[in-house]
Formats: sequence, C-alpha cells, structure tokens
Amino acid sequence: MNTSDRLERLKNLREQAKLGGGTEKIEKLHAQGRLTARERIGLLLDQDSFEEFDMFKTHRCTDFGMEQNKIPGDGVVTGHGTIDGRIVYVFAQDFTVLGGSLSETIAEKICKIMDLAMKNGAPVIGLNDSGGARIQEGIESLAGYSDIFLRNVMASGVVPQISAVFGPCAGGAVYSPALTDFVVMVKNNSYMFLTGPKVVKSVTHEDVTVEELGGADMHASKSGVSDYTAASGPDAIAYIRKLISYLPQNNIEPPPALNSEDPVTRTAAQLNSLIPENINEAYDMKEVIRHTVDDGDFFEVKEHFAPNIIVGFARYNGMSVGIVANQPAHYSGVLDIDSSVKGARFVRFCDCFNIPIVTFVDVPGFLPGTAQEYGGVIRNGAKILYAYAEATVPKVTVITRKAYGGAYCVMSSKHLRGDINYAWPSAEIAVMGAKGAVGVLYGRQARKEENPEAFLAEKEQEYQDTVANPYVAAQRGYIDDIIEPANSRLRIIRALGLLENKRDSNPMKKHGNIPL
Ligand code: HXC
Repeated sequence: MNTSDRLERLKNLREQAKLGGGTEKIEKLHAQGRLTARERIGLLLDQDSFEEFDMFKTHRCTDFGMEQNKIPGDGVVTGHGTIDGRIVYVFAQDFTVLGGSLSETIAEKICKIMDLAMKNGAPVIGLNDSGGARIQEGIESLAGYSDIFLRNVMASGVVPQISAVFGPCAGGAVYSPALTDFVVMVKNNSYMFLTGPKVVKSVTHEDVTVEELGGADMHASKSGVSDYTAASGPDAIAYIRKLISYLPQNNIEPPPALNSEDPVTRTAAQLNSLIPENINEAYDMKEVIRHTVDDGDFFEVKEHFAPNIIVGFARYNGMSVGIVANQPAHYSGVLDIDSSVKGARFVRFCDCFNIPIVTFVDVPGFLPGTAQEYGGVIRNGAKILYAYAEATVPKVTVITRKAYGGAYCVMSSKHLRGDINYAWPSAEIAVMGAKGAVGVLYGRQARKEENPEAFLAEKEQEYQDTVANPYVAAQRGYIDDIIEPANSRLRIIRALGLLENKRDSNPMKKHGNIPL
C-alpha cells in the first residue's frame, strides 16, 4: 500500500464513521425534526474547533449476530472543542447506530473525555439521544453505565456538567443526565423515562402517552428534571452556549467577567413605585431583576417548575452572578417543597463554582397544610436553609417586601452568613403578617369588644407601625442599610465589588448531611 492508498483508506474510514448508521437512518431523524450527533456538535462548538477522539473504535460484542454489525465510532461521537474560545469536552450519542444504545465501548469513549475534562478542568457537555443500555451486551452495558455514573458523581462540583436530551431517552440514558448540573430538553421531541409506556402499562396498568410520561413540558413543570424546554434542537444548543458563558471552567477558577456598557450608576425610578400599596397585591419580581442587572438580561433556569421562586444567571457590571428571588406573582412567593428544592440546588451549584449569589426576598413564609407536611416540607424546606448556610460565596440580599418567619431566616439572612443585606423601605421583617399576628395575640380579647373589627384593625395598624417594617431589623444590624429601590443596581454592584476577594470556609469534614 503506498502513501496515497493509506491516505485514501483513512479518508474512506472517516467518511464511513461520519455516516453513522447510514443515510436512511439520518433521513429518518431529519424527517422527525431531529439532527444527527455531528450536526449538533457542529452547532454547539465554535467553527472548526472540534477535535474527535476514537472515531474508529468499534464494539466487541459477538452475541446476536453483532459481529456483523460494526460501525466505526459505534453510537457516540466524542471529543473537545471551544465555545467562545473556551475549551469544553463533548459527547453526542448517535441514534442512527442501534438507537444510540450504550455499549461497553461507548461507555469507554465517554469516560475517556470525562477523565480528560476532570484532569484539565473544563466543562463536559453531553448530547444524549439513546435507548439506554444496549440489550445485546447485557451486563457489560450496565457496567459501562456505572462507570459513567461514577464519573458524573466525581466530577460534580469540580467541572460544570451540562446535558441536553434529544429524542426518546430511556433507562441509563436518563440517569447520567440527572446527575449533571443542568438538563435541557426539546419540546415535542425529547422524552426521558426509566421505562417506556408499554412497560408502565404492564406493571401499573396505567395508560399513558410518551408525552405525559416523560415529555419536555412534563419534566420542566412537574418533575423538575429539566431546566429548559427548547423550541428546537438548535434552540437547546444556543441555550447551552449562553449558559456556559456565565460559568467558570472549574471549581478553582472565578466565573468569567465581561465588559459591560451598562452604567453602574444607572438608576431605575420605576422601582420606587413597584410595590403596591396593598400588601396582598402581587407584582412581578422579574421587573426588579431586569431593572437592576446589566442590560436587563436575565438567563432563567427552571422557569416553569415551582415558579414561586425564580433562579437564574445575570451580570452586574460584567460580573457573573446567580440570582434567587421569591416571586410574589405566583402563590404570593410562598416557600413550599418544590421551591425549596429548586432554590437549594441552585444555591449549591453557585457555591460549587464560585458564583456570587444575589437574593431578592418577598416571602410570606412556608406553605401550611397537610399536603405539604405529608410531602415533607420540613425536610425539604431545610434544604434551602442548609444550602444558604453552607454557601461561602459572596451573598448579597435585598428584601423588597415581606420577610416573614422561618422564610426570613432562610432567604440568605445575616444569620446564615449573608454578607451584605439591604431592605427597601417597603420591607416588613417580622414573625408573621399583621393579620395573622393580631389574630393570635388579640383574637380572644376581640370577641369581648363591642366592635371587634375596629379593635382588630387598630391592633393591626399598631403591629404594622411597630414591628412590620425594616427599621427594627436595621436597629439590630441584621440589615446593613435601607436603600432607595431606584438605586438598587448601584448598591448591589458596590456590595459585590466589596466581596470580590471574600474568603470564607466551613469546618473540615468528609461532607455534610443535607436533609435529602
Ligand atoms: C439495542 C436498541 C435499543 C437498546 C433501541 N434500539 N433501543 N438496540 N439496545 N436499548 C435499536 C432498535 O432495535 C432499532 O434498531 C433502533 O435502535 C431504533 O429504535 P426504534 O425502536 O426503531 O426507535 P423508536 O421507535 O424511536 O423508539 C426508541 C425507543 C425504543 C423508545 C428508545 O427503541 C425503546 O423503547 N428502546 C428500549 C428502551 C429500553 O428499555 N432500554 C433499556 C433500559 S434499561 P433498528 O436496527 O431496527 O434500527 C437500562 C439499564 C441501565 O438502560 C439502568 C441504569 C440505572
């Protein structure tokens, strides 16, 4: 074989690998509105930055006639490239090869890039499209999944891990994404379930569609598995590219800082009149976020799951921050099981990766009732308390209105090592709202009064004037300053600047025991 033959052979093998399971299967994917693994990688990474590994690796299975069914690269494309010039490691499962099902060799390919990402301190992005464990390989496939799960866990908190789920993903193909930091799905095209509708029917006799069982909308709103429902594959990938822009490469680096054109001193007069006169009237906390962050650009995560709390990323004077905010426009911003878990997980992510946390507080308390108590609101509510208390990143808090009871303590209060805590003049920091408090304190006495309503109204006013305001907390130093809402941007940016070199730590331990 001469040099040109050798080059020709290499070229042919590469072409063969690039075709995956073949043109027919690629066309079928396209007809379903899905992209191939390589097309997805092409959209994700900067142009011409992708370097592929293990393009010629094939499976070693000889059962069920599999020795006749070998495709170079098997069912996954792996390698590295850049996003906005920063290195990321990537794997993309190829549904055209045996439904992207996971063989022992596919697991080896994925583990190789995860090991490199850990060693070199760069994010791992997994583009999943797989029918789960390759049935023909049996235990070898399960072993392969376990190897990946172990690496997901070891990498957790060391390098960011982001998963997109395309197509129908089952079994092990959903557990690995679940262990990563963020999961993105595509509307009407992505499904995640441990077992599909047919198995569900045979075991529990439930009739359920794939959409109901594991569709993108379900996981974004009910299970909370997904962080974003993309309108299309390219939209999912654009979301990941933007998400990466807020994150450091690993847990040792600070998050990237960009130049901001938005003036630090920009005021927002609208915020001075945002809080309604009626304490029980709702307003949109996203207004507060948008008016204060750079260019009004807020990158929300888990928008449709537990919307009574808002989490996401933004920048203040170019600095990347995580934002956590109660949302009075949904269930009065109450803390319940789902919102506590959502907030806790986000706070812990930011803390892993040195991302300062800005918290906006307007919370009437924890949601009472049997549904919450039976569901473990005590155990789950404790998660967000735990997360804020253990977080050592800079923590800036702004109380816009209600901060009642346990929810006051939880939401990045001074007592849980909140660094800089501000309140707006409209803040009410108290054990509970005026109505509830007066009912407890004066209910019996009111029944003896000639005009109970007038008596209670008078007592409510008294409570409001003496307790339900920010000044009692400010007198104790639990609030560092009461700020004019319009100046919030400037005050937050100054606070973040002050905390730029913050160093704090927790006692030495193997790990804590967060109430799971
Ligand atoms: C081998 C598989 C496969 C698998 C799909 N294929 N899943 N091959 N092992 N797990 C093959 C099909 O035989 C088919 O091959 C091709 O991929 C495309 O699959 P279709 O069924 O034609 O596609 P579609 O109708 O879109 O359905 C996709 C699907 C379905 C929903 C994923 O294939 C399916 O239910 N697969 C099995 C899912 C599953 O139960 N996996 C095991 C989970 S257990 P041809 O040659 O016809 O194109 C698991 C254990 C780990 O993962 C658990 C760890 C905690």
